[in-house]
Amino acid sequence: MAKTYDFLFKLLLIGDSGVGKTCILVRFSEDAFNSTFISTIGIDFKIRTVEIEGKKIKLQIWDTAGQERFRTITTAYYRGAMGIMLVYDVTNERTFENIRNWIRNIEENASADVEKMILGNKCDLQESRVVSQERGRVLAEEHGVKFMETSAKSGLNVESAFLALAKDIKNKMDRKSVTDQQPAYSSGVRVGDSAEKEGKKGGCC
Ligand code: GTP
Ligand code: MG
Repeated sequence: MAKTYDFLFKLLLIGDSGVGKTCILVRFSEDAFNSTFISTIGIDFKIRTVEIEGKKIKLQIWDTAGQERFRTITTAYYRGAMGIMLVYDVTNERTFENIRNWIRNIEENASADVEKMILGNKCDLQESRVVSQERGRVLAEEHGVKFMETSAKSGLNVESAFLALAKDIKNKMDRKSVTDQQPAYSSGVRVGDSAEKEGKKGGCC
């Protein structure tokens, strides 16, 4: 059977309970929205295949429970993630302040080169907003990650956010495969001299 995708990317959604992680994922995978809050138990995932630069990329997106009591299970999923969305709620200051703690969790548990992105969700609720877009942007800049405000309810930026994260992962992969194919001395690894000497001695190159 023909393979239906070129790459598989594993993504993870993290953030406090109630910020809208599940709704963002449901908007992205099913283009739907539910205003009833059904808090996630443990972990769940959804799949959607997208096309980036002519390549079919299957996104396997893990949706974690924000509640503290599930932290042991959810943390176990950090290691395999290639990209992580950190989500806060623009109408809830505490969820924004906690982003620093979520970043610390990533540093302690995820792979060092994981791509990250911060999302300020529920931006449709302008009248109850307490975190300005500017503060979100500054926080993301501090950590050198991308930032977007989203609304799972209206759909604003949900698709763009996942595509941007997937694109960053793909770019990183493309750069890495170029580096891997280059001779060691041109990729900045100083082994050129000894390789040359080996060559003169008649060793295999
Ligand atoms: P846990 O599973 O407990 O970690 O929570 P969660 O982050 O998955 O939150 P969930 O997606 O279940 O959403 C929580 C509540 O916020 C629900 O009542 C949603 O309908 C509402 N909600 C989520 N996203 C938005 C949004 O963009 N705008 C508005 N107005 N409400 C939203
Ligand atoms: Mg949830």
